[in-house]
Amino acid sequence: MPKANINEQLNLRRTDFPANFRWGSSTSSYQIEGAAQEGGRGESIWDRFTSMPGKIRDASSGAVACDHYHRWPADLDLAQSLGTNAYRFSIAWPRIFPNGRAAKPNAQGLDFYSRLVEGMLERGLEPWATLYHWDLPQALQDQGGWAQRETVDAFLAYTDVMTRHLGDRVKNWITHNEPWCTAFIGNFEGHHAPGLKDFKVAMQVCHHLLVSHGLAIPVIRRNVPDARVGAALSLHPLRAASDRAEDVAATQRHDGLRNRWFLDALYGRGYPQDIWAVLGSNAPQVAPNDMNVIATPTDFLGVNYYFPENVADAPSQGVMQTRVVELENIERTDFGWEVSPEGMVELLARVARDYHPEHIFLTENGSTYDDLVSPDGVVHDVKRRDYLQRHLKALHQILQLGIPVEGYFAWSLLDNFEWAEGYVRRFGLTHVDFQTQQRRLKASGLWYQAFLRGEF
Ligand code: FCB
Repeated sequence: MPKANINEQLNLRRTDFPANFRWGSSTSSYQIEGAAQEGGRGESIWDRFTSMPGKIRDASSGAVACDHYHRWPADLDLAQSLGTNAYRFSIAWPRIFPNGRAAKPNAQGLDFYSRLVEGMLERGLEPWATLYHWDLPQALQDQGGWAQRETVDAFLAYTDVMTRHLGDRVKNWITHNEPWCTAFIGNFEGHHAPGLKDFKVAMQVCHHLLVSHGLAIPVIRRNVPDARVGAALSLHPLRAASDRAEDVAATQRHDGLRNRWFLDALYGRGYPQDIWAVLGSNAPQVAPNDMNVIATPTDFLGVNYYFPENVADAPSQGVMQTRVVELENIERTDFGWEVSPEGMVELLARVARDYHPEHIFLTENGSTYDDLVSPDGVVHDVKRRDYLQRHLKALHQILQLGIPVEGYFAWSLLDNFEWAEGYVRRFGLTHVDFQTQQRRLKASGLWYQAFLRGEF
């Protein structure tokens, strides 16, 4: 379909959004950087995890990934060419402290991020730095990882160094990316590093992540007085799989751990009591002032939105006794994730109504499909383009409802290492040929570019 037609139907322009709206794309260190052995970088839990047989679908790792460590100027050129005005990236802790902690940081690691940030500023891209996007130094995992309170101290030392070093240029700081995933996929489901399968440990990890978030805020503010600080949560609108009372109750429980556990705690309500009761002896150890620490006021809430979930009661299933069910006849991406732009509206309306964050940023949103490069050299990812368009339309609706969303970061700038899925799942607006490292904007990226440049 010619460009003009699609956009007539869509009837959406950049000028329909506030002039200072942040338009960006998002990436993370382990997923794109590669150069795992260079620049004095230490081993991360993902280097270790990917070396274990059977953990990654295509037996790959992030050792090379998009080779962004060497190709970052071209990648930032790409982000600039899209017409974005912001860029979200993450810092690899093992590049700064190869063993997790030390008296002195690794200068080569600091230099790399310094140059990267300079590169963003030169291209008119506002840097949004994430401190922790899952690549814990393996040395800290060897001492118990996030289940140990000492890891919180190490995180604060790392945060202190990074914000001192980059704080004159980076004003937007995200402490953690998706603490639910770190805690539960990594320590309970075992599908992500470090690959543990222990619910009680996962609960303690989760608590320490939140404490480390709260304690990091004053550290960041001290070093960067004009900083804006927040966390990026993975949140989901939830639906009961049926109207049976058991399924409705299960949905409440699921919501309690997936959404409210984080939002209630961050917004000063403590952990949800109904979930605490369900946890029993699996509840985390909470030190006296922890809940106040976690509720330290932030400047924004980062929301990563991908999909809704349908939940059923499952009496034989673990502590929470819930199960996510795949309903039939539902539009899905090739990952099986439900496509639901209306779910994004529902979710943000709920967050705004229940928690009143003053500023919200959609820090991730995107889709994966099995892309093919056509003989004409183009990736006609019509479904991803459609996904993006429908979510931007939903975003516009969200703004019209008066919900204070101030930015949108598409996941992702590049196809990259998609964790346990390896290179099988492509989320990029840009296609990456992992043999040659050639980049080419897909139809979705070309559309985002035309939208952002105001070409229609
Ligand atoms: C999110 C992660 C991100 C990426 C997308 C697809 O959960 O934060 O790193 O893997 O999913």
